[in-house]
Amino acid sequence: MSELSVKHLLGIKYLKESDIQLIFETADHFKEVINRSIKKVPSLRDITIANIFFENSTRTKLSFELAEKRLSADVINFSSAQSSVKKGETLIDTVNNILAMKVDMVVMRHPNPGAGIFLSKHVNASIVNAGDGAHEHPTQALLDSYSIRERLGDVAGKNVVIVGDILHSRVALSNIFALKLQGANVKVCGPKTLLPKHIESLGVEVETDLRKALNWCDVVNMLRIQNERLDISYFPTTREYTQQFGVNKALLESLDKEIVIMHPGPINRGVEITSDVADSKQSIILNQVENGVAIRMAVIYLLASKIK
Ligand code: CP
Repeated sequence: MSELSVKHLLGIKYLKESDIQLIFETADHFKEVINRSIKKVPSLRDITIANIFFENSTRTKLSFELAEKRLSADVINFSSAQSSVKKGETLIDTVNNILAMKVDMVVMRHPNPGAGIFLSKHVNASIVNAGDGAHEHPTQALLDSYSIRERLGDVAGKNVVIVGDILHSRVALSNIFALKLQGANVKVCGPKTLLPKHIESLGVEVETDLRKALNWCDVVNMLRIQNERLDISYFPTTREYTQQFGVNKALLESLDKEIVIMHPGPINRGVEITSDVADSKQSIILNQVENGVAIRMAVIYLLASKIK
């Protein structure tokens, strides 16, 4: 297969396993390109991309922009805080006005789950979901799996535990879809209040004992407590959360084996993960960020080839 089965990247849920492998093979090529002294290719000189962000971002926003520029696309950036959204303009009007400037592709982060799906039905452009509320964050899951593949050789058959606020996490949902599609074994671990009811229906197991979960896994993906999405208190205090679900050096060293540490960022150092763990040689947190550029180059390149 040399092209994606989809026109938009709205979620991992809509991808086939062969799409993921195509994205990884394409990212392998772009990773080699961005490690050259000249990090740019002329592939998308005729494509214009708008990055529209209705929510804060560091990694996703900057790596999409860098990926687009390294493919030689023309890039415009929109941040809702400085826009006419503040004067009451709707999402569809906003995007149609941007598209009127001859834009081919929209990369969007939005606080509302399903915002990208909604947009894809109402505008004539390829849409890439850069995170929609607590729903999906597909490029994060792709770069996470790509980083596991890079460190451990393969994703199939690996034991991966996702720890923390599963209930509000788009990273967790997209990772579950991506990991299961590739044949990994997945457990989720966290306070019962932050585990969605019926999560087992996605083919994952629940483990509420962190030590047991860590002794089982090859890879742990530590999630941030998303205070911005918590309307009520889901655990007594942050200190108690850290005691039960935080990973520190002593806990890691007491395990039967050396496991790989991942985190999508931003990190709450000292809450879900201590600094000595985040910065240890077991951590691939900055490799994830590095791989985000190659993965986003691959996604944009493959989607653009469908609109050319
Ligand atoms: N991982 C992630 O989505 O980080 P940002 O919110 O900084 O983009």
